[in-house]
Amino acid sequence: MYLKNLELIQFKNYERQQLEFNSEVNCFLGENGAGKTNLLDAIHYLCLTKSAFLPVDSQHIRHGQTFFTLKGTFELAQKTLSLSCVFESHKKKRFEVNGNPYHRLSEHIGLLPLVMIAPDDTLIITGGSEERRKFFDGMISQTDSHYLQLLIRYQHYLKQRNALLKRLSEEGKKDLLQLSPYDQKLIQLSVEIHNIRSRFLADFMPYFLDHYAAISGQKENVSIDYKSQVSQPDFAKNFAASLDNDLFRKRTGLGIHKDDFDFQLDGYPIKKFGSQGQKKSFLISLKLAQFFIFKTLKGTTPLLLLDDIFDKLDDQRIFHLLSQVAKKEFGQLFITDARPERSKEILKTIKARISFFSINKGTLSEENVD
Ligand SMILES: Nc1ncnc2c1ncn2[C@@H]1O[C@H](COP(=O)(O)OP(=O)(O)OP(=O)(O)O)[C@@H](O)[C@H]1O
Ligand SMILES: [Mg+2]
Repeated sequence: MYLKNLELIQFKNYERQQLEFNSEVNCFLGENGAGKTNLLDAIHYLCLTKSAFLPVDSQHIRHGQTFFTLKGTFELAQKTLSLSCVFESHKKKRFEVNGNPYHRLSEHIGLLPLVMIAPDDTLIITGGSEERRKFFDGMISQTDSHYLQLLIRYQHYLKQRNALLKRLSEEGKKDLLQLSPYDQKLIQLSVEIHNIRSRFLADFMPYFLDHYAAISGQKENVSIDYKSQVSQPDFAKNFAASLDNDLFRKRTGLGIHKDDFDFQLDGYPIKKFGSQGQKKSFLISLKLAQFFIFKTLKGTTPLLLLDDIFDKLDDQRIFHLLSQVAKKEFGQLFITDARPERSKEILKTIKARISFFSINKGTLSEENVD
């Protein structure tokens, strides 16, 4: 699968811009603030219906304007897909494939698999459990549309139960009859989601371990331990028993929204004891594992977006990435760099079609290199 062209209208710092891509390596070059990451985000929007960075759609409208439009043409299994995404202030986002609007945006997730490696990704390791759930949920949702529907339903019932807890707590009531339907739904969905997360992690681990070993030279043992209250045999009982606590805190204390994935290095949490380099290796291995599990499960090669990667990685990790490019393991690649000479120097070592785009404050020029 690859993206043939992209059109941006009033999107972030782009007034109106059209780009044609090649199916191998596309490199966006330009100073800090030029609009390189914005282009990656536009591609992220078209593949996953939202920004990789800011969840509020209106913040992506060019300052002073009232709407943005993104259009892209993808080649997928010998078919051409024309996508358009239009967002107007105070209106619902409109998303169309070949002129047909989606009933629900979630129907689009997974059609165009994408993996992005960006500087803020370190939060997956150093941040709270929410970051890791977001990473795994995003990944599983792209491979399993049923999972995404379960998550949406879970969030819906959780929100409703929390609102009810708040009301009951304020009224000083403990109304089991009102809570019971939500409890049942949340327990049942927790178990289903937990089982899918467990199974996915088991499939994911071999990919992850392979890449970690290749990047680090097999220096240390890494593991990912799925931690969930739902694993306990008495989960349903524990859920019921925590009602007083839930009423006191006015929110649900047990369920898959509390899960975490423990990242360990030689048996210790990498978050606390890992070096900078070990964390970077861990992160790249997570992302490459994501890429390769998508490739296997989806039967198509995902787009790979590498934001500022040469700035953040050292030679050994860049070498590992480029060796995958050289082996033609990747499909279409998008790379950003604020230092054109460095990118050109690194990329000239690989045999691939490369298009360089120079960006200057939201306008582009292109040079092709074979
Ligand atoms: N809604 C918006 N309207 C207009 N401009 C915007 C909007 N959102 C972001 N920008 C501008 O986009 C620019 C940032 O673009 P981007 O993050 O793509 O830069 P970059 O080329 O990746 O830079 P760096 O090398 O620092 O990562 C900034 O100048 C910012 O002011
Ligand atoms: Mg950037």
